[in-house]
Amino acid sequence: MNPYIPRKAVVESIRDETPDIKTFRVKFKDSAFSFRPGQFVMVSMLGIGESAISISSHPEDADKFIELSIRRVGNVTGSIFKLKPGSTIGIRGPFGNGWPMDKIVGKDLLIVGGGCGQGALRPLIFEVLRHRDRYGRVEILYGARTPQDLMFKYEHDMWAGIPDGCLLLTVDSIPPGVEWKYNVGVVTTLFGKTLIEPENSLVLICGPEIMMHFAVRGLLSMGFKSDQIYLSMERRMKCGIGKCGHCQIGSKYVCKDGPVFAYSDLIHEPDKIL
Ligand SMILES: Cc1cc2nc3c(=O)[nH]c(=O)nc-3n(C[C@H](O)[C@H](O)[C@H](O)COP(=O)(O)OP(=O)(O)OC[C@H]3O[C@@H](n4cnc5c(N)ncnc54)[C@H](O)[C@@H]3O)c2cc1C
Ligand code: FES
Repeated sequence: MNPYIPRKAVVESIRDETPDIKTFRVKFKDSAFSFRPGQFVMVSMLGIGESAISISSHPEDADKFIELSIRRVGNVTGSIFKLKPGSTIGIRGPFGNGWPMDKIVGKDLLIVGGGCGQGALRPLIFEVLRHRDRYGRVEILYGARTPQDLMFKYEHDMWAGIPDGCLLLTVDSIPPGVEWKYNVGVVTTLFGKTLIEPENSLVLICGPEIMMHFAVRGLLSMGFKSDQIYLSMERRMKCGIGKCGHCQIGSKYVCKDGPVFAYSDLIHEPDKIL
């Protein structure tokens, strides 16, 4: 299959997540689709352009649908927001390596999300919930700007009820009149509440770079090693298949070698996250 030619998919339904994020459930018009948690697709809007978007649903549902949780920031995402159920979009991919699914089996997992990054972590959370016996203790730490900016609120009870695990939520601030009974502060302020020890554990992080920067610093000071910390990186993408160089971090192509990297693999690259 030519990796530059988008496949047609139909928007089945659209959910509001936050004031500027919607989840689009789409179904392919032609053959089956499969992917790994943490992979992304290039969503194309005819005459406007393409955007890299992580798949936020679980691979086991891919024969029925995939979900894409999208923040409206500019031209492409703005035009995606105008779509209605029944609209057709183009999708290339899946691309990238995804989360290290072979390495996480049997480990305690600290899943750390910030803002829109939670979309890339959601397939991993589904995986752990559906195959609970394959993993050790699982803690989900999730932060957003305000309570209204938290995605997937309708699933938080399910995440919080994970056996031998927990969901810890935090927001940067609470607007007047909004009820909030959880933590206030950046996501790293939750690190003091985790029961997960560095031994036999892995950390999986997706969020704004500034958040990942401070998360890595905090985790290293807690005793986690650089090869226990996995980060999903965002770069502007064009081809998605390692040809154009748009997404490079030093010697690495985020689209092909990533978007998920062990921190130990990024340490020697010239990037501001370090
Ligand atoms: C691997 C990967 C996975 C992603 N997953 C998601 C996802 O699940 N949901 C989602 O909403 N977005 C995701 N993004 C970001 C998304 O690709 C961009 O927000 C989108 O392409 C912006 O396109 P636009 O035409 O709407 O905005 P533009 O008009 O191109 O840009 C609007 C603003 O956003 C900034 N911007 C654009 N692209 C990026 C980027 N890649 N990184 C940082 N800033 C950017 C621009 O500098 C500008 O300030 C992902 C990006 C990557 C690389
Ligand atoms: S997007 Fe073209 S090389 Fe990565």
